[in-house]
Amino acid sequence: MTTVAMNINQGARKGLLYLGLLAMGQVGCQEKAEDRTPPNSGRTGMYTPSPLASTMRNMADDMEALRTKADEGSLTVAEVDVLIQAHAAMKEAEATKPDDIKATFSGYAEAYLLQLEELKSALEDHASRQERLDAFNAALATCVACHQEHCPGPIARIQKMKVQQ
Ligand code: HEC
Repeated sequence: MTTVAMNINQGARKGLLYLGLLAMGQVGCQEKAEDRTPPNSGRTGMYTPSPLASTMRNMADDMEALRTKADEGSLTVAEVDVLIQAHAAMKEAEATKPDDIKATFSGYAEAYLLQLEELKSALEDHASRQERLDAFNAALATCVACHQEHCPGPIARIQKMKVQQ
């Protein structure tokens, strides 16, 4: 339903959609997107997050959930494997405003997934606490890098997920 509405908007009403987006700014990227009127709310007024926004919410929840484990040193290889599988969905998921996705997006997505692979290796190798935390925080730094170009809203939240060393 959302997709159909979006297609209509993007096809027949490009100009209106453009004006609407100018007025609404970075709605799809805000932490509290629910509080605003998002571009894909259609006529029902119900907000359905884009597949990319849903994936991102899950990613944020996952990283917040694993932060304590990373800090305690109890994060497992299996848990990071689950992250890699689940978070890879971001590469294909449709964004709220696909036109705003820059050519750099896929590079940042790969960089993030590679950092998770490094985190996994650090755990497999029983690396020092410092190295494990460096890898965890580096993954979050790639989230921030992509967000600086695409969607600054959640950056403060992401910075708080880093573990202090
Ligand atoms: C490759 C680029 C990229 C990476 C890497 C990335 N993000 Fe995002 N993120 C986006 C884009 C683009 C959006 C906007 C999605 C939309 O509105 O469809 C977004 C949206 C979000 C949102 C808001 C979702 C909502 O409710 O609208 C949160 C929270 C978020 N990201 C957290 C994270 C976290 C945490 C990480 C790393 C673990 C991360 N992101 C990594 C590009 C990225």
